[in-house]
Amino acid sequence: MKHARIIGTGSYLPEKVLENSDLEKMVDTTDQWIRERTGIERRHIAADSETTCDLAEKAARNAIDAAGINSNDIDLIVVATTTADCVFPSVACLLQHRLKITNACPAFDVQAVCAGFVYALGVANTYIRAGSATNVLVVGAETFSRILNWEDRNTCVLFGDGAGAVVLQASDAPGIHSTHLHADGSYSELLHVPEGISRGYAEMQQQAYVQMRGSEVFRMAVSKLAEVADEALIANNLDKTEIDWLVPHQANLRIIKATARKLSMTLDKVVVTVQDHGNTSAASIPLALDVAVRDGRIKTGEKLLLEGFGGGFTWGAALITF
Ligand code: COA
Repeated sequence: MKHARIIGTGSYLPEKVLENSDLEKMVDTTDQWIRERTGIERRHIAADSETTCDLAEKAARNAIDAAGINSNDIDLIVVATTTADCVFPSVACLLQHRLKITNACPAFDVQAVCAGFVYALGVANTYIRAGSATNVLVVGAETFSRILNWEDRNTCVLFGDGAGAVVLQASDAPGIHSTHLHADGSYSELLHVPEGISRGYAEMQQQAYVQMRGSEVFRMAVSKLAEVADEALIANNLDKTEIDWLVPHQANLRIIKATARKLSMTLDKVVVTVQDHGNTSAASIPLALDVAVRDGRIKTGEKLLLEGFGGGFTWGAALITF
């Protein structure tokens, strides 16, 4: 049975940067509050004309270049997003056309909010392990700025836009060792955009934005991320000291630190981008991964633990030899 190996990473951030000081002029907040409670200093925001597929395309091109393969060698596209360009077609289908992939490979989106990338990786890994795909493009791309209430300080300071991508290839050498995906829909109201296509949009439109009970989400995130990290280690008979890098979802520096503490990892073994990116939902893990691969921190053969937690609730982890 083949393994799924990451052979290329890529990412893209929109040009526009929104500093905490800019937010001070928009809502009743301070740079100090945002830094102390979240670790976030700035975030990127898509231009009005820029869509999730635009961001996904740039990240995907970077990953395909790094992988050194031809776009038409890709035989599956999975895009993790909660902020698709349109109701349908999926971002994955739009992306296939943008990349001029003409081999009619399957392409679909996965929606698991901030755990979306780990979910997409799990699906792609299963395809490769089953022998159903050889080169898979996995993208996490979001324009969360479009579903934020820019008058709600509880949420608008937390999120940013961006995209990250990896190319997975079937290989005899180990790559993804395991993925662990979970959901518990009973918590849906703690973090949600409660209106939408089928329920309809409320007259006030207020409902079509992210709503969150922050401290409850925080507690669940810390607890579930620790659980799923243990699950991944036990499944692979690994000790936490054998993990070279933790590449966590970037929601809040305090959540990242709590997870690292539970793994007895010092922060120099954790890829942290939340200060510059904010929470980019499904894009945050592949964005962080690409940053650390390109700056030379993550090297071939090292063991990575990726993990994410998001609305749903959804959460998951992937244990990988890079
Ligand atoms: N600026 C200033 N004050 C703010 C604020 C802001 N941007 N946002 C909230 N506050 C206020 C609240 O209104 C509250 O005021 P009150 O005590 O007068 O009611 C106070 O700060 C404390 O709020 P609380 O929610 O208890 O703070 P916290 O320490 O839990 O931090 C979060 C808030 C949102 C940063 C934190 O709960 C968090 O990160 N939660 C998880 C979020 C997350 O990860 N979401 C995505 C999951 S993928």
